[in-house]
Amino acid sequence: MFESKKYAPSEEFVRNSNLTKDQYEEMYKKSISDPEGFWGEQAERLTWFKKWDKVLEHDFANAKVEWFKGGKLNVAYNCLDRHLQTPAKNKAAIIWVGDKPGETRTYTYQQLHREVSLHANVLKRFGIKRGDRVLIYLPMIPELAIFALACTRIGAVHSVVFGGFSPESLQSRIDDAKPSLIVTSDAGFRGGRIIDMKKNIDEALQRSEHKVQHVIVAERVGNETYTVWNEGRDHHLRDILNSPDLSDECPPEEMDAEDPLFILYTSGSTGKPKGVLHTTGGYLLGANMTFNYVFDHKPDDTFWCTADIGWVTGHSYILYGPLSNGATSLMFEGVPSYPDAGRFWQICDKFGVTVFYTAPTAIRALMREGVKWVEKHRLNTLRLLGSVGEPINPEAWEWYYHNVGKGRCPVVDTWWQTETGSIMISPLPGAIDAKPGSATKPFFGIEPVIVDNDGKELEGAASGNLCIKQPWPSMMRGVYGDPERFFNTYFVQFKGYYFTGDGANRDEDGYYWITGRVDDVLNVSGHRLGSAEVESALVEHQSVAEAAVVGYPHDIKGQGIYAYVTVKNGVHTNDELKKELLELVAEKIGKIARPDVIHWAPGLPKTRSGKIMRRILRKIAEGEFSNLGDISTLADPSVVATLVEDKQKYHS
Ligand code: WT7
Repeated sequence: MFESKKYAPSEEFVRNSNLTKDQYEEMYKKSISDPEGFWGEQAERLTWFKKWDKVLEHDFANAKVEWFKGGKLNVAYNCLDRHLQTPAKNKAAIIWVGDKPGETRTYTYQQLHREVSLHANVLKRFGIKRGDRVLIYLPMIPELAIFALACTRIGAVHSVVFGGFSPESLQSRIDDAKPSLIVTSDAGFRGGRIIDMKKNIDEALQRSEHKVQHVIVAERVGNETYTVWNEGRDHHLRDILNSPDLSDECPPEEMDAEDPLFILYTSGSTGKPKGVLHTTGGYLLGANMTFNYVFDHKPDDTFWCTADIGWVTGHSYILYGPLSNGATSLMFEGVPSYPDAGRFWQICDKFGVTVFYTAPTAIRALMREGVKWVEKHRLNTLRLLGSVGEPINPEAWEWYYHNVGKGRCPVVDTWWQTETGSIMISPLPGAIDAKPGSATKPFFGIEPVIVDNDGKELEGAASGNLCIKQPWPSMMRGVYGDPERFFNTYFVQFKGYYFTGDGANRDEDGYYWITGRVDDVLNVSGHRLGSAEVESALVEHQSVAEAAVVGYPHDIKGQGIYAYVTVKNGVHTNDELKKELLELVAEKIGKIARPDVIHWAPGLPKTRSGKIMRRILRKIAEGEFSNLGDISTLADPSVVATLVEDKQKYHS
């Protein structure tokens, strides 16, 4: 059942690796048997103004976890200041690569330190102080990294919202986080196209209940595509930076290890996206340590994580992990397909990228373009490859390994979540052999368990629900503004554990194979969406009576969105209406949430108590008609036959 090839790292890789197999096993054992001792030692990786009173205080069953309480530190200090006393002072901290080929900017640690201090003083000028929320809605330009770090310097809590989200998604995040200030830009470039940023903020603010006092507007595109300029509220960043009395020195605020660091919104199986809250000490230690071991960091590496900083992957592996290790982090504004399908590889060659971290959906999309795009480039500097965001199918894994890595670079398939803050299950490349499609073994301090639907822990080779048994430093500390939701989402279904929402298999070697979400969360091109979110967007259309959304296997996206839509009596279904529905979803959530299939459903399979049977809808969407399970308990079993028939006729 779990049979698979095994790939061991080369002798050379093992020789230079930060960790051997024996060291992994020894350290892992200690991390589980004596977490306080282990993490107390590891925390020395960070620079503390004052040491903690206690390593860990927890009541896991009740979702209460505190790490390094009483310890004082500052994230920007750890990412910048402390490197200025080392040879890294004049090393590239961030190499920024623009959407348009040829446009690049480099910040050394010293320069970035100065920029961050300067921008921290910009925030202070508007009265921002520790604990205040700052919402950042920026394209992938250096200001995004600079402002995020500036927030951490003064103890403000940032909430970065991905540039692809619509004004309505923005508005719900603004109303929830209640930021004192927003940072945005006039517009942004992505794949040769211009995206409106300020305009989206204006629209969001028009609708939001929460009144934001200040909007700082950075300039990226230069043509003022936004419609309004609200005097008193809106400020050009360049004007503030030009004021002669703005200092480039800003002392770092001493934060408690458990002070909030950032909020990042992510979709759940019900309701609106939730604000995942991370705190200072534990999060930074998790990002720092996983970066060092999973990516086998060496001081002369050029590390490139292709994610957007609007997702947790960008937070942990463009910013906090690499910078706290004094690494060189490449930040890319564009997309893999612009100006052509060789862009990733062209950048790898041009900047001598050594470690490359991307998503399966990007690999599959590039795979489809043909290997010729890879072969045009040398890729001889690469030594390690990574994957994140969804299960990687073995075919894509092999393609990546052989064509991009030339059979020379280990592939680390890293499983984690917005909630976990940093990588949880992944090969440590010099210590753990890879099996294509498996995230392999847990990181230090992580105790995964597989439980059955009754919450019983399964031993040995098993398949079931993936839970985590013990707290780890970078775990989320709460849902912003909603402690109940935190407890109910993660700690109720399986008592005594953190429930990930994923299903997993564990094989005879103790390797984990993540099978995907077992709840109503969709994972489309590595982006998380709640089916309920998409459904509520669809039913806002006046012609729609009801909608049910499920995921189905999609060649490139991993999962596509399949929407069953029941229209109101007398409404005529046609392509025009379909187009309207797709636009509506893009407007309400963002383009990434547009369904791939709209299936006009005269009725939906429901139990007699009215609950929609998604299990059946998933099977039909997958084209798996033979195994629909018991449908006799449905209020109207005949709807199933109609759905199957229409699926075969119109959607196969
Ligand atoms: C969900 C979390 C933090 C990573 C970026 C996405 C899926 C993520 C893997 C992997 C199988 C994966 C899971 C998880 N996922 N990485 N290597 N193998 N599945 O973060 O948006 O919070 O989504 O992504 O289903 O629960 P996210």
